Amino acid sequence: MGKIELRKGATRCVFLLRGVAVKIPMFCSWESFLNGLLANLQERKFWREMKHPMLARVLYGDPMGLCVVMERADETFSDIGVPANDRRVLNFFFARCAKACLPVDRHFSNIGRFGNKLKLIDYGD
Ligand SMILES: Nc1ncnc2c1ncn2[C@@H]1O[C@H](COP(=O)(O)OP(=O)(O)O)[C@@H](O)[C@H]1O
Ligand SMILES: [Mg+2]
Repeated sequence: MGKIELRKGATRCVFLLRGVAVKIPMFCSWESFLNGLLANLQERKFWREMKHPMLARVLYGDPMGLCVVMERADETFSDIGVPANDRRVLNFFFARCAKACLPVDRHFSNIGRFGNKLKLIDYGD
């Protein structure tokens, strides 16, 4: 079994396992915990309602928002130090998402690469 990696987002802790990302609300304050629950609920709902190809697939989400299991990206981007060429591609991707009425939070860290496709990995706000 590969090792588990931990990432922190704005409101959720993310455990990266083989093939999946497991998102749990952060417990550092009551407010961040509630925002994490809402983010999980929104991703679950958006995925169920839209199943849009530019959204990373939600494989499981509980009805309380305690946990979302999402397909794991092959690569994610950092908000800083992205080369100019990649920035152009990522900004173009954000523009396409906005055009498709997807909820975009324009941080590069919210985009993942799946093979040769880009998808939103954080659409919980
Ligand atoms: N599906 C995914 N595949 C790979 N990494 C992910 C995935 N979802 C989240 N991550 C990693 O976890 C970080 C935080 O997740 P995110 O969904 O943005 O949480 P938050 O909503 O709290 O900001 C991301 O910036 C990314 O590095
Ligand atoms: Mg995020």
